[in-house]
Parts: sequence; C-alpha cells; structure tokens
Amino acid sequence: MIEEDRMKMIMDHYENPRNFGPLEHPTVTLRGGNPNCGDTLNIYIRTDGGNVIEDISFDGEGCTISQAAASLLTEFAKGKTVERVGELDSDYLRDILGKDIMVTRPKCSRLALETLKSWVRNFERGKTA
Ligand code: FES
Repeated sequence: MIEEDRMKMIMDHYENPRNFGPLEHPTVTLRGGNPNCGDTLNIYIRTDGGNVIEDISFDGEGCTISQAAASLLTEFAKGKTVERVGELDSDYLRDILGKDIMVTRPKCSRLALETLKSWVRNFERGKTA
C-alpha cells in the first residue's frame, strides 16, 4: 500500500472507529493499556459458545495508532476462529500499519493485538477469561 494511502486509512480508523463501544452480553471483557503513556484499551468479545468470535468491539482512550490498530483488528477478528486470530503476528501488523510505524511506535502498534492474544492463550488453555 502506498504510504499516503496507508496514513489516510489509519486516520480514518482513528476518526471513525469500527466496532466501537461495549458489546451487550460479552463472553469476556479484556482490559489492556500502556503504562508508559496511560492509554487504555478495552476489548469486548462474544463467542458462539465454541471457538468462533461471533462479535468483537473495543473502546478506550489512546493515541491514533493504538486506537486505529484496535479498530482494524476488530474488523479482522469478527467471525474468525480463536485459532486464526492466535496466528496473527508482527507480519499482520506490518501489513496493516506499515514498517515505519511498527518501528517508531512498537508499543502503540502492538497494544490491541497483544491484549487480544493474551486472551487467546488463555482460551487455548481451556480458560474463557
Ligand atoms: Fe500510548 Fe500510543 S502513545 S499507546
């Protein structure tokens, strides 16, 4: 993706976040944050009772990158299996945010994915929260 288009896309997700606000009756609510800057992120997940993420949303207070990354991640994760989301790694972040942002803003870039993946690890160990 051309960098100018990527920045426009990131700003759009920041200004018009997708899947924003708490879910009704979430299966689990994840609390994430970056202690260095005080930014917060909550991720709400409702599963289908099995391993499919039926719905997912987020809210919080944070910088452009952390909030846009959360918006993009919820778009990706909705309807996917927990295992598929668990496969996401730095390559995924590099694809959506670009290498420059990954390098200059690593904690901002990773906040949503790390918050979600900490739950995935628990889920795969048989815990739901
Ligand atoms: Fe806090 Fe980006 S400055 S997560």
